[in-house]
Amino acid sequence: MRTKVTEMLGIDFPILAFTHCRDVAAAVTNSGGLGVLGAVAHTPAQLDVDLKWIREQVRGRPFGVDLLIPRKYVGSEEGGFDRGSLRSMIPDEHRQWLDQLLDRYGVPALPPRSADQTREEGGMGALRVDPKSMLPLIEVAFENKVSLIASALGTPPTWLIDRCRAAGIPVAALAGRIDHALAHKAAGVDLIIAQGTEAGGHTGEIATMVLVPQVVDAVAPTPVLAAGGIANGRQVAAALALGAEGVWCGSVWLTTNEAETPPVVKEKFLAAGSSDTLRSRSLTGKPARMLRSAWTDAWQQQDAPQALPMPLQGVLVIDSQRRIHRVAHQHGSGAEQLATYFVGQVVGQMNTPMPARRVVAEMIEEFVDVMERMNSLIAEDR
Ligand SMILES: Cc1cc2nc3c(=O)[nH]c(=O)nc-3n(C[C@H](O)[C@H](O)[C@H](O)COP(=O)(O)O)c2cc1C
Repeated sequence: MRTKVTEMLGIDFPILAFTHCRDVAAAVTNSGGLGVLGAVAHTPAQLDVDLKWIREQVRGRPFGVDLLIPRKYVGSEEGGFDRGSLRSMIPDEHRQWLDQLLDRYGVPALPPRSADQTREEGGMGALRVDPKSMLPLIEVAFENKVSLIASALGTPPTWLIDRCRAAGIPVAALAGRIDHALAHKAAGVDLIIAQGTEAGGHTGEIATMVLVPQVVDAVAPTPVLAAGGIANGRQVAAALALGAEGVWCGSVWLTTNEAETPPVVKEKFLAAGSSDTLRSRSLTGKPARMLRSAWTDAWQQQDAPQALPMPLQGVLVIDSQRRIHRVAHQHGSGAEQLATYFVGQVVGQMNTPMPARRVVAEMIEEFVDVMERMNSLIAEDR
């Protein structure tokens, strides 16, 4: 296939995979797409290990890194607070409510060493979203010769765009609204990812079908990737029909064989339908689409506190999420009921685990079939 995006990135198919799992990233790159490793919960040392591993696997083929660079978060004026200061800003009322919730569901406390480890190493909820934490990650990405740097939750800062431009690395940024896409374009972003509300993770309110053509028109000639609700070849064809130069998929990799999704969550995803997700601020403080569970239900109850702003909510819930995931494999447990994770509405199509390379191959095969079918609609001798 040939689009502006395959040419820009030197790939065979305009299929980009957002993933937290290095195996998925390498598999998609080796299948002719481009794997992008989500690095927001990595330490610089972990990121270096993962990117070196990917480089070995892909032998010269391109791969990318994704960082969260929110425009607004607590401490942004000061350049970011350290974890200790953030912890001290969490109201007792929130901690107590959460402790009571986990007690009610019979979730045991973390062993003391494990709790310390969470704080040192990060993990789900330990988002590195401030410039101080981000810079070392960006250095590691440059050292490992990434072919794309992507960011979400705001226009990437000028210094980052300038540095990437000097190094010849394209910058991509997610947009859930036209004004966000225009701001990215004005800042010099090379590739805009128009992400509809059906996407997993942080997401806006406009559907992909409505958002993509508007963004394509608004930012032309800057190329656009469509994201949100794309997991098969028919959806890839639809995205290209809307004017996108390629697709950016996140959820579909979560049930692949390579994915490190916790087994209980994988099982829930395989069984879930498309109406089993919702947008909730309960994991990060900003609206993010995730699987509905006893956790998201509890945060919607009247007695629940308001979610805290980013990154405080992530700091608040990190220990409880670890507590839950440590024992969620126990069948019939309260932890199993509480377990959730980010996923989009395409979860309803994710019914069979398979290797990531097969996901890519099936997308391409189905895309080709669709194109033939569409061509036949206007063939003269029909
Ligand atoms: C588990 C998960 C975590 C995500 N985390 C991030 C992230 O850290 N940074 C980011 O730019 N996008 C993140 N996203 C959004 C994806 O980049 C992508 O836009 C989205 O998954 C596309 O929609 P889909 O889920 O329908 O494929 C995440 C998505 C999922 C499913």
